[in-house]
Amino acid sequence: MICMLSLTYRIIRRFVIWVVYANQRIKGQPRDLEDAVLYGDQKLKGIDSYLGRLAYDFPIPQGIGVHLYDLFFPSPLTLAAYKDDLKVIDILLRLGLGGATLKTILKEVRQGNPRPRLQEVTVNGEKGLVNAMGLPGSGISGLIQSLKESSLFAHGRPIGISIGGHTITEYQDNFLELHRFLSSIRDISYYFELNISCPNTPDGQDMTKSPHLLESLLQFMRNHSDVVIGVKLTPDQSNEDLVAFAELIKSVDKTYVNAGNAPYRTCSDVGLPEQAISIGGGGYSGRGIFKRTLEMTTILAAMKVPLVATGGISTVDHVKALRDKGVVLMGMATAVVQDPYCIPRINRELVLA
Ligand SMILES: Cc1cc2nc3c(=O)[nH]c(=O)nc-3n(C[C@H](O)[C@H](O)[C@H](O)COP(=O)(O)O)c2cc1C
Repeated sequence: MICMLSLTYRIIRRFVIWVVYANQRIKGQPRDLEDAVLYGDQKLKGIDSYLGRLAYDFPIPQGIGVHLYDLFFPSPLTLAAYKDDLKVIDILLRLGLGGATLKTILKEVRQGNPRPRLQEVTVNGEKGLVNAMGLPGSGISGLIQSLKESSLFAHGRPIGISIGGHTITEYQDNFLELHRFLSSIRDISYYFELNISCPNTPDGQDMTKSPHLLESLLQFMRNHSDVVIGVKLTPDQSNEDLVAFAELIKSVDKTYVNAGNAPYRTCSDVGLPEQAISIGGGGYSGRGIFKRTLEMTTILAAMKVPLVATGGISTVDHVKALRDKGVVLMGMATAVVQDPYCIPRINRELVLA
């Protein structure tokens, strides 16, 4: 059943991309994967109304759940921060994710970078994505409104709120506002993740170069709440930096390190024409970055800080390799875009592993 749905999804996805590109060519527009993603998301939600139970409801097998402090994830597979459509995230949870981190949110409503800002690439035979979205989003008020209207928390699985900001004060304010809202809802499971390294926002404050800022932010958050806090480190940081940051993060209670984000690549690095991404490059994601994810987790495992890994994870062998290093949770983005049925497939394979 999973195989059939997966094959159907992949065939339809290729067809949709082909039609979207053909349409863009006829209209003289630049090639832009985002149109296909938006169309695909609409269709996924449309199918839900009449075929949802058959197409999306896959119970998570018993016995593969993991704990991260007081949070319980019934599967170690989670959604990495990349999506803000809560209805689509709801579908992905029904497919078997143990939890989900929402797309990074900033205070204000943001349009993000000019399009095109999302493209498919093939590097060394591996299909992946390059994105320079620039954190488009509805802002904190918009997110709170969407959460009020959504049934995301009804799954009883932890939901991660990824926070960004232009300044430390803004990170603090964003955290306080969201924490105030979430802590007012009874019996929900949530955590925060700090996005300190967005390659696509020239105005974003990059804390990867300022450990003291990160330290003061973590202390501030801990003083105001006992909720689990993660920090997402980037593969672009040097190994020495990763260790120094993990040491700092570990010094604050109930924290975890998320090892992995999308490393920065220029268009020419990944074989795209210069104008294929409006700002000349972006975060490269997909299987091609798994080697670095494994390398990062190998280095960080020695630090004895709870680890989440993100970057290129798409098979049960990836999950097992990371689990063997002591990784608790595996964040996935590109694999889920390419084939969301990898979620129930890996869950099932994990039972046998
Ligand atoms: C379209 C897109 C948007 C993303 N937006 C965010 C974001 O808002 N915050 C964040 O921390 N990471 C973001 N990421 C990075 C992913 O969370 C993930 O770290 C990265 O894609 C590597 O994982 P993958 O190889 O499984 O895709 C984004 C990635 C993609 C492809």
